Amino acid sequence: MALFFKKGDSAKPRQAERILPRHLGIIMDGNGRWAKKRGMPRSAGHTVGAANFKTITRYCAKIGIEYLTVYAFSTENWKRPSAEINGLMKLFKQYLEESLRDFRDDDIKVRFIGDTEAFSSDLRQLIEETREVCKDRTGMVLNIAMNYGGRDEILRAVKQISQKVSQGELTQEEITEEVFSRHLYTAGQPDPDLIIRPSGEQRISNFLLWQSAYTEYIIMDILWPDFTTADLDAALAEYARRNRRFGGV
Ligand code: IPE
Ligand code: IPE
Ligand code: MG
Repeated sequence: MALFFKKGDSAKPRQAERILPRHLGIIMDGNGRWAKKRGMPRSAGHTVGAANFKTITRYCAKIGIEYLTVYAFSTENWKRPSAEINGLMKLFKQYLEESLRDFRDDDIKVRFIGDTEAFSSDLRQLIEETREVCKDRTGMVLNIAMNYGGRDEILRAVKQISQKVSQGELTQEEITEEVFSRHLYTAGQPDPDLIIRPSGEQRISNFLLWQSAYTEYIIMDILWPDFTTADLDAALAEYARRNRRFGGV
C-alpha cells in the first residue's frame, strides 16, 4: 500500500509518518469461535491464532509501526477451563522457544506487559531469556500483554506511587498524568493511536484503559485466525481518514 512507507524511506511523502499509527494495539479475539465454526476444539483456534500473530507482527515491523501491543491473555482469562489455559500456556512457551531459536536475526524488541509472576517457572524463565536477547534491539517494540488487565495495571501504579509518597520520595502535588504514566507497564512509550479488535465484539475488555483515552478504535467482523495483512491495511486506511481532535476543534 503506497501510503505506508517504512521509516527512513527517502521517497516517503511528508504526511506518511503522521497517518501511520506510531503505536498500534490489537485485541487478538475470536479464536474459539473460529474453531467452533469448523467443529474443532477451541485449542485449534488458538494454534492458528498464534501462527497468525507471527505473520501480523512481522508485517507491522516491515511497514514501519514503531510500537505494537498485542493482547494475548487477560487477567480475566484465568476463568476459563483449565484444559484451555494449559493449552494456551503451552502455545506461549512454544512461541517463545521458537522466537529465541529461529528469530535471532529479527530486530523486534519483545517486551511483556502484565503480571508475569503468575506464570510457571519455565515460562517465566523463557520470558526472562527473551527480554535479555532483545534488550539491545532497536527495531519495532512488541509488547505482549500476558496476564494483563488495565485495572490491575492502574492499581499497581497507585500502589507504587502511594509508597513513594509515604516514603517522602514524591509529594501529592507532583502526581501528574505524566508521572502516573511512568508507573504503567508502558512507561516511556507513546499512547496507542489505534486499537483494532477483530471478532466483532464492541468492548475494551480491560485493555490499555489509561493509555487509550484518545485512541481510535476499529472493530472488525473477522475472527483473529482469519485476519490478514490486507485486513490490517484496510484498518490502517480507515485510521488515516479519521480526524483526531483530542478534545480540540
Ligand atoms: C482470543 O480468542 C484468545 C484469548 C482470549 C486467549 P478467544 O478464545 O476469546 O475466542 P472467542 O472470543 O471465544 O471466539
Ligand atoms: C480479550 O478477549 C482478551 C484477549 C484477546 C486476550 P476476551 O475473549 O477474553 O474478551 P471478552 O470476554 O469477550 O470480553
Ligand atoms: Mg474472546
